[in-house]
Amino acid sequence: MKRDSLPATVLEVRGLCKRFTLHLRHGLELPVLHDVSLSVAAGECLALVGPSGQGKSTLMKCLVGSYGADAGQILLHTPQGTVDIAAASAQQVLALRRRDIAWVSQFLRAVPRVSALDVVAERLLEAADPTAPGAELDDETHSSRLEAARETVRVLFARLNLPPALWELPPATFSGGEQQRVNIARGLVRPARLLLLDEPTASLDAANRAVVVELITQAKARGTAVVGIFHDEEVRDAVATRCLTLGVSPSKESHD
Ligand SMILES: Nc1ncnc2c1ncn2[C@@H]1O[C@H](COP(=O)(O)OP(=O)(O)OP(=O)(O)O)[C@@H](O)[C@H]1O
Ligand SMILES: [Mg+2]
Repeated sequence: MKRDSLPATVLEVRGLCKRFTLHLRHGLELPVLHDVSLSVAAGECLALVGPSGQGKSTLMKCLVGSYGADAGQILLHTPQGTVDIAAASAQQVLALRRRDIAWVSQFLRAVPRVSALDVVAERLLEAADPTAPGAELDDETHSSRLEAARETVRVLFARLNLPPALWELPPATFSGGEQQRVNIARGLVRPARLLLLDEPTASLDAANRAVVVELITQAKARGTAVVGIFHDEEVRDAVATRCLTLGVSPSKESHD
């Protein structure tokens, strides 16, 4: 990590290229992202738009460090310095996810036997001790931290209208919209420098969409930089400061 003064820009992508090699199709090359550049400042929300298959989710997966890049940089500016996510080690990516990046994927990856409450509370606990995840705490400290985290999650679940009868159950059997609200709670339960949202409202009714819009607006007001894919135009209009259209070469930004 390089140390430098903290700029208002949180995320800068420069000349990002990503292609997939289809080994089962005789090594066919599928170019998806070509020379994508963007920047997002604290408090802004950049919406990724464009037709299906143009690489919106692929770009998100590059930003969260799940996919490597073939060229270009993904610079995340943090108080600890600037990290190029495109060149970061797996360990650095995990540290960024614990401390700086929150990610709401379209579908929740449910962990068997862990209650909805604890799936979300874990995010708060790992933030409490980001340098030593899983470090042994004495029982009393662990229980009091866990109870405080669960209380924060209960408030958020109530706000997201998740029925209290579900809170202690593992989310594997929840409906699509219920799982999505657990996923949103997981992404938004603690402040992050960069919030990445892949269709966060796709399975929600109007009342719950409005709650999510409120939560995103609050995150922006706290200075979080947001990048999102929102198929729902009403949601996009309510939260996006700018749009980036993928599939136009080079990728173009538009302002409200
Ligand atoms: N892991 C992968 N391996 C091979 N090809 C992939 C992979 N992930 C995505 N692709 C291909 O990359 C292209 C872009 O996919 P992506 O999911 O990023 O599109 P999208 O813009 O998010 O579309 P949608 O609006 O339908 O969600 C598609 O042609 C897809 O088939
Ligand atoms: Mg997609």
